Amino acid sequence: MKKKITALVLVAAMMAALAGCGGTAAPADASFAADASSVEEASSAEEASEALADGVLTAGTNAAFPPFEYVGDDGKPEGFDIALIRAIGEKLGVEVEVRDMEFDSLVTSIGSKIDVAIAGMTVTEERKAMVTFSDPYYDAVQYVILPAGSSIASIEDLKGKNIGCQLGTTGNYLIEDSIEGAAAQTYNKAIDAVNDLINGKLEAVIIDQNPAEVFVKNHPDEIRLIPGADFGFEAEQYAIAMPKDDAALAEAVNAALAELRSDGSYDALVEQYINSSEN
Ligand code: ARG
Repeated sequence: MKKKITALVLVAAMMAALAGCGGTAAPADASFAADASSVEEASSAEEASEALADGVLTAGTNAAFPPFEYVGDDGKPEGFDIALIRAIGEKLGVEVEVRDMEFDSLVTSIGSKIDVAIAGMTVTEERKAMVTFSDPYYDAVQYVILPAGSSIASIEDLKGKNIGCQLGTTGNYLIEDSIEGAAAQTYNKAIDAVNDLINGKLEAVIIDQNPAEVFVKNHPDEIRLIPGADFGFEAEQYAIAMPKDDAALAEAVNAALAELRSDGSYDALVEQYINSSEN
């Protein structure tokens, strides 16, 4: 983050890679970047990216949100988001380092402990006041998980109930702001809320659709799922959260995302991590 000159070199390399080389990532080596035409192509970014300056993009996540991020067999975070940020890093010619943290502390760590956050994070006005979001990369909605025998079927039925969620998530805010008299029981990990639901300590859990589907698939006899649309929950969109003052980074990340969409890599990742039944 401190090396401005390296930053310029890297931005030059990645802009050239994105603009001219048919999608292949350019290695961030100085000889390539020193090429005059690459430097010229980089000039669209007003200032070099601080986050990319050291050649390492540190991405914070919360690996308890399958299939977007979870702890793999080797103990390291993996999943759709992890694969996506690695693919973006490859396009930009930087190394990606993933840091597993609590979801609740991701936004405030951007620009200090981490460069960006990729964590199935919904774009919200409140967060927008603190970070710059990339173009959205996935549509989402909150789902309601219920004990198999529950009679809850409408937003009316949820009023005044004890509802579990992950701390600091849109599900958390939805319970507090939109369900009259409901008590939000917050957990650092959504799976702990699901376990308390199974143990009879909660009457419902509200969490994003895809992780909800994974959790319910693992306990088909004990819990079931109702789509948020049945409760009038609004559509959400996931995006990568970045520092507010790094326009060059946002530009580069969005360009990489667009390229991954157009070259088929994005769809391949959706197939591999989200549509396949393994996760
Ligand atoms: N989409 C929700 C939000 O932004 C939940 C995200 C939780 N992500 C995670 N990796 N635990 O608030």
